[in-house]
Amino acid sequence: VVPVGDDGDARQLAMLAVNPATAYLLLNRYVSLQPGDWVGQDMGNSAVGQYVIALARHAGIKTLSVVRREETAGQLRALGADLVVVDGDNLHDRIAAALDGAELRLVLDGVGGATPGELAHSLEFGGLVVSYASVTRTPVAVPAADLVYRELGIRGFWLINWIRDAPRAEIEATYAELAGLVEDGTISAAVEATYPLTDYREAFARARKPQRSGKVLFTFTGTG
Ligand SMILES: NC(=O)c1ccc[n+]([C@@H]2O[C@H](COP(=O)([O-])OP(=O)(O)OC[C@H]3O[C@@H](n4cnc5c(N)ncnc54)[C@H](OP(=O)(O)O)[C@@H]3O)[C@@H](O)[C@H]2O)c1
Repeated sequence: VVPVGDDGDARQLAMLAVNPATAYLLLNRYVSLQPGDWVGQDMGNSAVGQYVIALARHAGIKTLSVVRREETAGQLRALGADLVVVDGDNLHDRIAAALDGAELRLVLDGVGGATPGELAHSLEFGGLVVSYASVTRTPVAVPAADLVYRELGIRGFWLINWIRDAPRAEIEATYAELAGLVEDGTISAAVEATYPLTDYREAFARARKPQRSGKVLFTFTGTG
């Protein structure tokens, strides 16, 4: 248990444990990112993706996010996303054109399949793809030419391993920092709907639907 303060939006604080920490570790654990560096990600409108955008912006790091729906691009730009590209034909050409000569230092993948490979095409020499999910249930596909000639790397990340293995002080410090950023509104994730526990069937049905505008949460009397 890591206590957090009473300030801030209870719904946002309720989401602190998993996705903000995931985004934070993805950005901080693998590559020493400096202000002005570029990070690419797919599933940009997922909760993890939204936290990546907000945390990167807070640190002066630029983001290129791939989404699968045009209507989510505006939502991400309002969050501070630097570049948003809609998945589809000639994706790697459109990513390279959007970057206008810049290279990605890190690619974060939650989709699996071909999309991370399209992003990886714009990675710097020796750059890294970190996979944290595969919502398409297909393996990360990075073309051999990129992998071999440009010596790219692919890593996996699972938050539970960090919680299991990291020193207690590191876990407490990470959540304290993230709680502060939630409380002052620096990071947040969109919420589509809230339900009382009694309506759990409707809540689960809604949460299972694709193309949501945000998370589906339970509320308890007195928490709003
Ligand atoms: N490795 C870890 O430690 C770790 C930690 C946290 C989360 N995760 C995983 O990360 C994933 C995202 O979690 P979240 O809570 O951020 O998700 P979320 O907010 O519920 O959003 C789901 C995302 O998945 C996209 N999506 C669903 N099916 C897709 C498909 N077939 N192709 C492309 N995109 C698809 C959705 O796009 P639309 O909006 O267009 O439908 C949306 O962007 C989950 O699989 C979760 O289990 C892993």
